[in-house]
Amino acid sequence: MKKVTLRMQINSTQNPFSENPEINEHLKEFVLQQQVYRAAIKEIKTKLEILDEEFEAKYDHNPINHMEYRLKSPKSIVEKMEKRGLEITVDSIRKSLTDIAGVRVICNYLNDINRITNLLLRQDDITLIRKNDYITCPKENGYRSLHLIVLVPIFLAERTESIPVEIQIRTIAMDFWATLEHQLKYKGQHEISENLRDRLKSCAESITHLDMEMQTIYKEINLKACLDE
Ligand code: GTP
Ligand code: MG
Repeated sequence: MKKVTLRMQINSTQNPFSENPEINEHLKEFVLQQQVYRAAIKEIKTKLEILDEEFEAKYDHNPINHMEYRLKSPKSIVEKMEKRGLEITVDSIRKSLTDIAGVRVICNYLNDINRITNLLLRQDDITLIRKNDYITCPKENGYRSLHLIVLVPIFLAERTESIPVEIQIRTIAMDFWATLEHQLKYKGQHEISENLRDRLKSCAESITHLDMEMQTIYKEINLKACLDE
C-alpha cells in the first residue's frame, strides 16, 4: 500500500489495463467513476484526523501514529474479479469489491486500536458491514490487525452514494511485521519453507509481547506523571 496515492492513472490507450479490449472499455469507464472512492478515502481520513486531534487536545496523546491510503489498481481489480470468476463490468466491480478504497491506520499502542475503532463506528453516518478481528484471533501465519469494512455516504451533486472502505487498524509493531512478511512473501522465488514460516510466526509472537509490554510501560509512566502533579 503506497502512501497518499489518491491520484489514479486514468486511461491510456498506450497502456491498456487488460489484453481484452472489452474488459478494457469497462475498466476505463470504472476508472472514470473512481472519484467516489477517492472521496470516501478523504472522508474517512478526515474523520480519523479529527478524532486524533481531539484526543491530543484533551489527553495530550495521539492514538494515531500515521495513516496510509490506496485505491485498488485496475490490474488488481481484474485479477481479483477473475480469481472469483466474476464478470468485469462497472456494476459487478462496484457490487463485488469492498476493498477498492483502502485506509490503513497505524496506532501507537494496543489500546488505541479499540479506542479509534469505537469512536469511528459510533458516528451516525458510518455503517459497519464487516469486522475481522485478527488481533483477538490472529491468522495462522501470525498476521495481526483489525479489519473493518464500512460504508460512508458521499454527497454528489445529484445523488448520495454509500461507498465501502476497507480500514486496517494495527500498531506500529504489527505494521512492521506485516510489511516485511508481505515483502518476503512476494520477493522470494520459491514458496516459503516450513522452517521460515515458523520463524516468521515466532517473530509475530515476539511482537505481540512487545506491544503488551509497551502498553504497560506507557500506562505506568502516565500513572506516575499523574501522581507527580
Ligand atoms: P482479500 O481477497 O485479500 O481481500 O481477502 P479478504 O477479503 O478475506 O480480506 P482479509 O481481511 O483476509 O485481508 C485483506 C487484506 O489484509 C490483504 O489485502 C492484506 O493487505 C492484509 N492481509 C491479510 N492477511 C495478511 C497476511 O497474512 N500478511 C500480510 N502482510 N497482510 C495480510
Ligand atoms: Mg482485500
